[in-house]
Amino acid sequence: MEKKINLGIFGFGCVGQGLYNVLNHTRGFNATIRKICIKHPEKKRILDASLFTTDRNEILNDPEIDVIVELIDDVQAAFEIVETALKKKKAVVSANKKMIAEHLDELLRLQQENGVSFLYEASCCASIPIIRNLEEYYDNELLRSVEGILNGSTNYILTHIFQHNKSFEKALKEAQEMGFAESDPRLDVEGFDAKYKLMIILVHAFGIVLHPGDVFNYGIQHLNDFDIRHAKEKNATIKLIANCRKVGNKVYAYCMPKFVPLSDTLNKVNFEYNGLILEGAFSENQFFMGKGAGGNSTGSAVLSDISALTYGYRYEYKKMDQHLNYKYSNDHVVEVYVRQKGKLKIDPAVFESVSIRYESPECDYFIAKINLQKIMNSEWLNDPDISIILTENNT
Ligand SMILES: NC(=O)c1ccc[n+]([C@@H]2O[C@H](COP(=O)([O-])OP(=O)(O)OC[C@H]3O[C@@H](n4cnc5c(N)ncnc54)[C@H](OP(=O)(O)O)[C@@H]3O)[C@@H](O)[C@H]2O)c1
Repeated sequence: MEKKINLGIFGFGCVGQGLYNVLNHTRGFNATIRKICIKHPEKKRILDASLFTTDRNEILNDPEIDVIVELIDDVQAAFEIVETALKKKKAVVSANKKMIAEHLDELLRLQQENGVSFLYEASCCASIPIIRNLEEYYDNELLRSVEGILNGSTNYILTHIFQHNKSFEKALKEAQEMGFAESDPRLDVEGFDAKYKLMIILVHAFGIVLHPGDVFNYGIQHLNDFDIRHAKEKNATIKLIANCRKVGNKVYAYCMPKFVPLSDTLNKVNFEYNGLILEGAFSENQFFMGKGAGGNSTGSAVLSDISALTYGYRYEYKKMDQHLNYKYSNDHVVEVYVRQKGKLKIDPAVFESVSIRYESPECDYFIAKINLQKIMNSEWLNDPDISIILTENNT
């Protein structure tokens, strides 16, 4: 007989309400919300006030609650909640990629020490079931790479810029109003959100556990009209691409804007959608696409995790158990377009080679090869007058 589940939910914002909506429309699934912990008791809610609390212990200490669902936008509080719940041997479902990426090793240890499930499908591309696929379907496949668009908010902005000639600011505001953007939009536009998801993918695809500072990310915040015109002249768009790839025993990863030719599969991924291309030695290329943001689509991934808990599902971290001993390294050369104005502001020593140089009164650009290891943490990456974009020649 199907087990009844009592849920204790943290957060009733975009995703919390999405989960409530999806739960309400799901038949044959026996789950009850016992309590919801929120931050601002004065906010108007669509549910009865008796269901809400601001005291996290009311949920964490309730022996009747089997599953903790963590859907808040406060990383520190989220980690404390998840840590306490796992120590109390309660299963946890979370959508919080920043919290997970920043605490990967502790969360792995907590699951092992307490023998309890921690599922987080919604944290990675919302509605696309990528983690469970990497865990179960690709468990023995010789994966070569996972590349794609992992951030719905920047993809929404870029689609509006390229398809509707909208300004960056207007498109960002719309993404926020529609619930596709993080509470702090810098997480999206500077490429952090996509990097956190890439780090989660690295664990399940290659068994590699990293800290956020280990992976290079560069966002779309410095793009200007010149870059957009340049892309259009080349029959391409610009997409924020996250990529992790195994070459021999070495794995590299990064998150950067890239010129994507109009004919490329990833150009089918528009607005708040995410898309991933997985390349395996034997399965070859496979393409996943789905909504990467929004209350209902993220809520449906949360519900799928809750449902998986009813049959005792837990991640086995198979790629870690296989002791593949892949070595992570940023010692990787990429070809980039660098746009700037006037005197060169970048130390030329970072360039392996420069192939094209273009100068105009408006601005200059050149095509160069750079080693990611050499530019990690460079000050000039923050200069708003410089923009770097991967050329279409990178794999
Ligand atoms: N939005 C998406 O499309 C999406 C997609 C994938 C993953 N996620 C992740 O899902 C999580 C939630 O995102 P969201 O978009 O739903 O955020 P949101 O709309 O800003 O809602 C955040 C909720 O968290 C509550 N909260 C904040 N701090 C709290 C605390 N210390 N204790 C208890 N409750 C607290 C807030 O309470 P009040 O209501 O009282 O303010 C609010 O209900 C984030 O980790 C986000 O990265 C979001």
